[in-house]
Amino acid sequence: MYVRHRPLIKLVNITKRYGSEDAPFVLKGIDMEIASNDFVALRGVSGSGKTTLMNIIGLLDNPTAGNYYFNGDDISDMNDDSLSVLRNKRVGFIFQSFYLIPYLNVVDNVLLPRFYSGEHMGAEKERAVMLLDEFGMADKCKSKPSELSGGQQQRVAIARAMINNPDLILADEPTGQLDSATSQTIMEYIAKLPGKGRAVLLVTHDAQTAGFAHRTVYIQDGLLKAGEDLLREV
Ligand SMILES: Nc1ncnc2c1ncn2[C@@H]1O[C@H](COP(=O)(O)OP(=O)(O)O)[C@@H](O)[C@H]1O
Ligand SMILES: [Mg+2]
Repeated sequence: MYVRHRPLIKLVNITKRYGSEDAPFVLKGIDMEIASNDFVALRGVSGSGKTTLMNIIGLLDNPTAGNYYFNGDDISDMNDDSLSVLRNKRVGFIFQSFYLIPYLNVVDNVLLPRFYSGEHMGAEKERAVMLLDEFGMADKCKSKPSELSGGQQQRVAIARAMINNPDLILADEPTGQLDSATSQTIMEYIAKLPGKGRAVLLVTHDAQTAGFAHRTVYIQDGLLKAGEDLLREV
């Protein structure tokens, strides 16, 4: 049976507006909890605030107001250096456009978050290769991203997201650039990531992709809502 654990992420009345004080609020008061082994899909139409919310949860952007607790710690008490360390060590990112570094081979792309955290050592390569093997990419270690299909590039990006053994994986439209058969394969790999103290937040506008998650929350005009009927316009 699926059991929810303590909250890894807790958001209380999070708001966000970009730019000046007369700009409209993009997030209008978000309350949300993500348990430490959760697999949550965040669904909403284009422009509803999904990426904005994901960037805040991923510590890539600050909320305008509200409280954000990461594993019980209020992030507003942390300075930029502590936030960078938290983001680098505890959060893994998977993006629609993969964002692999073109001049690095596959293994070095996977190892990149280790370089950023200043912890790269020779032995780490073995872990990168092991991860690539888990995602069916062990035979492509020496390849450059341009030599890979979109689905293969995304599998490298999944391995990269896992290299620091993060508590939270954020995936923003991870199948947005892939055909439906490849999307299915990628989602099967992503579905293996949550559990054992790791949560996954999957951002998608797509019902079939969201179906892989344990639960779905819906966002509309910057507010979380219950009920799929809100997505009729998709
Ligand atoms: N950096 C930004 N500056 C100004 N407005 C932005 C910025 N990023 C997003 N927005 C606006 O915020 C709203 C929500 O965008 P976004 O979070 O990207 O939605 P989604 O990911 O659901 O498509 C949109 O109206 C968008 O134009
Ligand atoms: Mg988006």
